[in-house]
Amino acid sequence: MGRFAVIGAGTMGSGIAQVAARAGFDVVLRDVAPEYLDRGLTTIAASLDRDVKKERLTPAQKDEILARIHPTTELAAVKDAEIVVEAIVENFAAKAALFSELDALTRPEAILATNTSSISITKIGAVTKRPTQVIGMHFMNPVPVMPLVEVIRGRATSDATTNAILELGAKLGKTCLIANDFPGFVSNRILMPMLNEAMFALYEGVATREAIDGIMKLGMNHPMGPLTLADFIGLDVCLAILDVLYEGFGDPKYRACPLLRQYVAAGWLGRKTGRGFYEY
Ligand code: CAA
Repeated sequence: MGRFAVIGAGTMGSGIAQVAARAGFDVVLRDVAPEYLDRGLTTIAASLDRDVKKERLTPAQKDEILARIHPTTELAAVKDAEIVVEAIVENFAAKAALFSELDALTRPEAILATNTSSISITKIGAVTKRPTQVIGMHFMNPVPVMPLVEVIRGRATSDATTNAILELGAKLGKTCLIANDFPGFVSNRILMPMLNEAMFALYEGVATREAIDGIMKLGMNHPMGPLTLADFIGLDVCLAILDVLYEGFGDPKYRACPLLRQYVAAGWLGRKTGRGFYEY
């Protein structure tokens, strides 16, 4: 698999493009507007600069990696890709529209992967004529740092597609672990209830935000406290995932904390908007 395309140059898409280019792939990076592409490329350059400073990359290697990333606003630029990784907004209608376009546009043998954090791979696959070649490749934020790719098999995903993605993940230097297609897969089925519980603890006045985060950091050795992590992920993303879990299982244990819903309504989405459970 040589020709790589990433759709969406946000936090996740730019991270995926960076990791792929660093592994030697030529990457088409597509977003709808030049300013999104510019922002994504700036993030990639800043992330590579960390490695230049630590002498893990030379400035020339950094430039070579950047030169392998080909930004574009044209969806048609992905038509020759062998693997497309979608990392657009976490919304089924938007993903469905994109996958049906990709299905029409790309070579019949191309694999269409989605970085969705909770939307059903089976449902996304079903909008295409190639559901056996649709699969979840769930990278973690920050993509260049986190070793995991959660690989999600939809109901129709073939073994050949799964094996090709496992091989690709290894080339990207990631450890792939497989989950089946149920709401939240494994990562968010376990992570989101913990973050939600931290929000309920704050909402009910059990402790301050600093104490909740400190207890989980110092007591459980988590790299970030749960409220800091929720701000890092984005509160809108957390709410969308909790709603998928709640609707998908019909179990009240996944009910999003009212405080989370209120913060999202206020536009306090975490680090990216300058305010969430903390101010940035
Ligand atoms: N690009 C490149 N390198 C980066 C980076 C980036 N964006 N961010 C951090 N790093 C590197 C640093 O250079 C540093 O490298 P060295 O140790 O080799 O020097 C290392 O990562 C640690 O960074 P820092 O010292 O700056 O800060 P830290 O020790 O606090 O670590 C962190 C930062 C890696 C983000 C850490 O806090 C962490 O692991 N947090 C939890 C992250 C997490 O849980 N992510 C998953 C979120 S869930 C998700 O993504 C999926 C979903 O569906 C919601």
